[in-house]
Amino acid sequence: MIPPQKDLFTYEDYQAAADFIRSRTKHQPEIGLILGSGLSPLADEIEAADLIPYQEIPNFPHSGVVGHAGRLVIGRLAGHSLITMQGRSHFYEGYSQHQITFPVRVMHLLGVKTLIVTNAAGGINTGFHAGDLMLIVDHLNFVGISGDNPLRGPNLDEFGDRFPSMAQAYSANLGGITRQVAHELGLTLREGIYAYVAGPSFETPAEIRFLSAVGADAVGMSTVPEVIVANHCGMAVIGLSSITNITIRELQSGLETSHEEVLETGKKIVPQLIQLLKEILKKIE
Ligand code: HPA
Repeated sequence: MIPPQKDLFTYEDYQAAADFIRSRTKHQPEIGLILGSGLSPLADEIEAADLIPYQEIPNFPHSGVVGHAGRLVIGRLAGHSLITMQGRSHFYEGYSQHQITFPVRVMHLLGVKTLIVTNAAGGINTGFHAGDLMLIVDHLNFVGISGDNPLRGPNLDEFGDRFPSMAQAYSANLGGITRQVAHELGLTLREGIYAYVAGPSFETPAEIRFLSAVGADAVGMSTVPEVIVANHCGMAVIGLSSITNITIRELQSGLETSHEEVLETGKKIVPQLIQLLKEILKKIE
């Protein structure tokens, strides 16, 4: 069972969660990491980890989706203190945009300045292959454009401005570092625009052709709400998609997309992603 949908939180709600987490760990994380579908094993790399199940944290949404573990892993990786979300909650589960972004504001209160967000996504760009990694350079927020932005409602000035800019939602500086690291490691890194849709149904071929026509390179059901809230409170963001499947753009292609395929390909990308992340972390101040 998911907790009741909640649309508004007070500053004190976020503080209560941050206080609880502080009471359960000695680490003072400055980097946040959100792991998408199939990418949970990455958290096993974190050293001296304190584990906190989401259910125990006041107001935290907890995911019931297969492939999403549902706990915080707070510890050390490549010289940094990291707070990692092993699994995230999604809008399609019935949570509000405010609930799915709640953890990002809590990370901010804990001292996080840089957020690395990962996800599984369907490839739309015809040059992409299943198993590719993509650096997100910009996004299309279909849920937000149609009215459900995570910042809707009274602005909490403690976090940021009423009308935050999204002109550079993904840090150009950190994107440059990511590109350089991928090059040094000999990893192919695609780049592109991520389209956020509500899900949980996968897109029809007509929807994929539409998304392609408006410039999307990949499509998925997460990330963008968290990135908006992270930018609102001044974090620098890196977004990485694992392209777990190629989307279907023709009727009668005989092809289907499945969650199993997404998880399977996600698992295969984990070793590359671990390599990439460790090297990125070494280059971040
Ligand atoms: N569509 C939407 N979300 C996804 C996909 C997809 O094809 N693959 C992984 N997440």
